[in-house]
This record gives sequence, C-alpha cells and structure tokens, in this order.
Amino acid sequence: MFISDCLNVNKEGHLTIGGLSTVQLAEKYGTPLYVMDENLIRENIRSFKKSIERYYGGHGLVAYASKAFACKAMYAICKDEGIGVDVVSGGELYTALQAGFQPENIVFHGNNKTPDELTMAVETGVGRIVVDNISELHLLDGIARAAGKKVRIMFRIKPGVDAHTHSFIRTGQIDSKFGFALETGEAMAAVDEALKLPELTLVGLHCHIGSQIFDIEPFEHAAQVMLQFMGDVKKKHGAVLRELNLGGGFGIKYLPEHDPDDYDTYMKRVSTVVKKTAAQQDLPEPFILIEPGRSIVGPAGITLYKVGAIKEIPGVRTYVSIDGGMGDNPRYILYQSDYDVMIANKATQQKTEVVTVAGKCCESGDLIQENAPIQHVEVGDVLAVLATGAYNYSMASNYNRIPRPAVVFVKDGKDRLAVRRETYEDLVRCDCE
Ligand code: LLP
Repeated sequence: MFISDCLNVNKEGHLTIGGLSTVQLAEKYGTPLYVMDENLIRENIRSFKKSIERYYGGHGLVAYASKAFACKAMYAICKDEGIGVDVVSGGELYTALQAGFQPENIVFHGNNKTPDELTMAVETGVGRIVVDNISELHLLDGIARAAGKKVRIMFRIKPGVDAHTHSFIRTGQIDSKFGFALETGEAMAAVDEALKLPELTLVGLHCHIGSQIFDIEPFEHAAQVMLQFMGDVKKKHGAVLRELNLGGGFGIKYLPEHDPDDYDTYMKRVSTVVKKTAAQQDLPEPFILIEPGRSIVGPAGITLYKVGAIKEIPGVRTYVSIDGGMGDNPRYILYQSDYDVMIANKATQQKTEVVTVAGKCCESGDLIQENAPIQHVEVGDVLAVLATGAYNYSMASNYNRIPRPAVVFVKDGKDRLAVRRETYEDLVRCDCE
C-alpha cells in the first residue's frame, strides 16, 4: 500500500514509521518534524555493499554522498556500517570528523574547494580528494608541498553522457560546471600535468552523471567511457590508474507508480561493463567506488506537519496550508519534485480529495505538491510527506526566520532525537548587534 518499506498502519489507523505512530511522534516532538527509519538506512547501505560483493568480488567501496542528509548521527551510522562517505565542503568534512569518522574513508568533492578547505582536507588526512579543475590541481599541489604530505587524488571527468533527469541535477554532459571534459583534451592534459607532480598521487578517476536516474544504460555507458579513457592514459603514459569512482544518482520511488531497479541489477550490469572494458583495454579490474546518497536515505525519511488553514477556491483549487514548507523542503519550488502525501491520522481512509499542499512562507511558489490525491483533510490533521529523507533537511533554510525542524531517528520501536529543533535564540545567534 505504501511507497516505502518502513511505513505501515497501526490499529488506530495511524501511519507508523519503524513501528512507531507518526501521530504520537508529532505530538511528542512537535511539527514540522523529520523522521528517519534507521533500520531502513542500514538495510540500504548493506544492499549496496552486498551487491559489490556479489557482482564485483567486494573489490570496491560504498561512499555515502552525505550532501543528501548530513548530521553527526548519520556519519556515525556510516562508520558503524564500515562504508566511506563523500563530502563536498569543509562543513560536511568537519561534521564527519566530529562524528569520529575515519578520514581515510572520506572522498572530498567540489568544483571550487577553497584553499582553507583543501588545507583542512590535507591536514586531516582525507583519503581521496577529487580534483575538479586545473587551478585546483596546482593549488592542492602547493598545499601538499607546504604541509610535506603526499595526497591521493582522483580526477572528476565529464564522460559526456546524457542522463535523463532534471537539467539542474544532470552533471555528466560537456556543458557542466563540474570536472574535466574528455572531448576537448582537457582531461588528458590534466593527467599529463598530475603525473609530473610528486606530492600528488593520481589513484583514479571519478564521474557522476546526475541524480534521480532510473535508466541503467547511462551508468553502463559512463563506466565504459571512463575505462576507455583509463586505457588511453595507459597507452600514453604507461600509468595504470587503479580506482574508478562511478558516483551516485540512483532513482528512488517518490510516487507509487515509480519502479526503480534494485541495486543488484545496477551492479550486475555495470560491473559486467567494467570487467569487459577493462579486459579490452588490457587493464586490471579497477577498485570501484559508488556514491549513493538519495537511495540510502530518501526512502527512509518522512516529514510530518500539522494542517492549518484550508482555502477552497471554487472551480480553481483547494490550498491546504501546513506549518512548514520551502524552508524544510525546497525541492518542489526548485525542481517541481514529485511527492506522495497523506493524512497520517487517516491512513486507512481512501484518498478522495485532490489538493495543493502549501507552505507558510511569504512566497506563492512555496508549495510542497500540486494536485495531490489525499484523504479528506481537516484543520489539525497530521499531514505526512513521504520519501523526504534526502535533500530535505540538508537543503533546509531559515527563510522567513522559521526555525529548522528536529530530526528524529526511529529504530526497533524506539525514537531518539538526532538533531534538535532550532529555537528563536538560534536564529539570532550570529547577529552581531
Ligand atoms: N556523487 C556526487 C559527486 C554528486 O554530486 C552527487 C549528488 C552524488 C554522488 C549523490 O547523488 P544521489 O545518489 O543522491 O543522486 N539537490 C538535488 C540533488 C543534487 C545531487 C547533487 N549531487 C535534489 O534534491 O534532487
């Protein structure tokens, strides 16, 4: 009946997550509230790990893309599950380290890492820095020399693959701010340069073609293009790059009609291409990294709100306003993202109404979903938006000086606060006068 494995309905007819009543969680912690099912997060991580074991002999590493959802509790789960993490800023790196995450399993991305961020990464011993452009290569070389440290790097490559997803989250094509292009010779020129720099060890290459992708074919294509380039590097320099980072981007089920392939299917098909192309290029099978973000946390999270004003505009539409909005979930205003919504305290009832769920910000576009099927809605109902575990809390803002919600983790019938709700005092904490 529901779109994720962690949701169910109890005997009161209330939606549950991880076996706990969402109505009681909303009561206990207040709304809006992000709730994440820890067991599902761990299961998703294990599925990725197992698929690498099953289809690639375990010769790889899952590096959770922490931009999808980052807080100390999440990095601690990744540490506990023995996977790596991908970070894209000094702030994510700092949070990971604060959670005790081991730096050697951190992959550091970004198209414009600052000198301070790169220095922090070098000094703390980040395992792989993914260099995005030539000026960063030289900047990092200088930082490594000054620190007297050898640094393991990868290059971000644009494989020229068109992934079928929203243009704002498509990254593999030539017109992208990320990475080195193959077609123009830019990528090979960067390899030529890196091989001359003794402080930097080029361990491999990285690509990421986009996000929320359902087709496996673009991933296969990207893997093939990357290995062919690794073959070109070997032919030109005799250098064998040992690692291939294939990025993230696996689509998840936001709506009941979405039907993503399982990770095994992805890994089976992609590892076949990797092995075959490596053999053709006379290369050893590379150590592979994958960087799932959304697919690990997205389905495991929901957001709970209280319904406030309901405005019926005859012949036009009905607005159902909730006590959150674009501040805690900017994905609809940014990408017109799909979401399934429901009334948590009427979970067994049929969806008989079609409404537009609106946030409380002073902004007409502040909507969570338009024309969404939903149960009969009344003021005071608890409204649940499903599959909000990825890119919701991590993209939240204080627009209109609205404090960001708390994040609660549920596991085995118990709840715990992972991130407390912001207060009004938090909102003025950085104001200087
Ligand atoms: N690796 C790299 C280098 C990335 O840039 C990303 C996502 C990932 C991995 C993880 O991709 P995932 O498995 O989560 O699709 N804010 C947008 C998504 C932006 C994705 C940015 N990069 C959204 O809310 O849909």
